[in-house]
Amino acid sequence: MVDKKRSALPVAVIGTGAIGGAVVRRLLEGGHDVTVWNRTESRTTELVVAGARRAPSVREALSTSTLALLTLKDQQAVQQCLAQLDTDLPELTVVGMYTGTASEARLAAERVTELGALYLGAGIQAAPETIGSNAATILYSGSRHAFEQHRTTLALLSSPRFVGETPEAAAVWDLALFGVWYDAQLGLLRALESARAAGIDVVEFSRTASAQLGHVVTAVPATVSELRQATYPPGPANLSEHLTVVRHLIELRTGRRLGDGGLPEVAARIETLIEDGRGDEGLTATAG
Ligand SMILES: NC(=O)c1ccc[n+]([C@@H]2O[C@H](COP(=O)([O-])OP(=O)(O)OC[C@H]3O[C@@H](n4cnc5c(N)ncnc54)[C@H](OP(=O)(O)O)[C@@H]3O)[C@@H](O)[C@H]2O)c1
Repeated sequence: MVDKKRSALPVAVIGTGAIGGAVVRRLLEGGHDVTVWNRTESRTTELVVAGARRAPSVREALSTSTLALLTLKDQQAVQQCLAQLDTDLPELTVVGMYTGTASEARLAAERVTELGALYLGAGIQAAPETIGSNAATILYSGSRHAFEQHRTTLALLSSPRFVGETPEAAAVWDLALFGVWYDAQLGLLRALESARAAGIDVVEFSRTASAQLGHVVTAVPATVSELRQATYPPGPANLSEHLTVVRHLIELRTGRRLGDGGLPEVAARIETLIEDGRGDEGLTATAG
């Protein structure tokens, strides 16, 4: 149900795909005037019925807004949309709300700054259906002033989190967090692949594998503390012992479709540390 009492703050949403559509609906519920533009115009129809205003161009969408959310597929789409702008936009904050790299965030910020506007990079740790709920996390970085100015509006989408004053900080957070998931999930898949290849019952195996994943979660605070203090106690095994297991794992994974997960590089790093006389330290030393 759309709140008919509109806030004074007009917001433009450029790109009304899965994330953009969810963002528009939430902003409308929150009482904002929302102007939308999408490359494929038909994708805005339902949003217009819900109360959004359709703009004929990116330029027109932004001309009436103080906050513009670029909920686009990727950097190429962002650059193409920003290239359509040539006017000075001093009152505007542009938020690049898409998954991209640090250098892409810097490029977008440069272009937005050229236009006289403020830039916020954003990392979306959320599925479209979670936008507006506690399950959504959206990370922001760049202009702290712009973040504070629009915090109330951004809070409609998720609990907003400011992670740094460079435009790329949110992208680095976002990708590093995705990396945690990929490494853990692919680690699990590699283990299941090895077990299955050896004829092991993967259901039985997976129960113990879950416990291993749990050990990683439990050790997060201690690992971070070791990194911060640059002290690397061995814990259950020291680097010399880890090297033996890592070499065995490389052998176990040889010829598997998911590869060895970069373990040869890890083994080489451990060997270097051992040569430096640090074989009694723990695994965190590899990242120290
Ligand atoms: N969906 C998720 O669960 C999720 C979760 C986390 C992060 N993300 C990230 O959020 C961003 C948006 O994802 P999404 O799921 O909303 O994607 P989507 O549903 O595919 O929507 C992509 C949007 O980008 C537009 N677009 C693509 N190329 C364009 C171009 N060259 N010029 C202008 N517009 C262009 C599309 O317009 P058309 O309608 O004309 O194609 C559409 O509005 C992506 O970076 C994605 O990685 C998504």
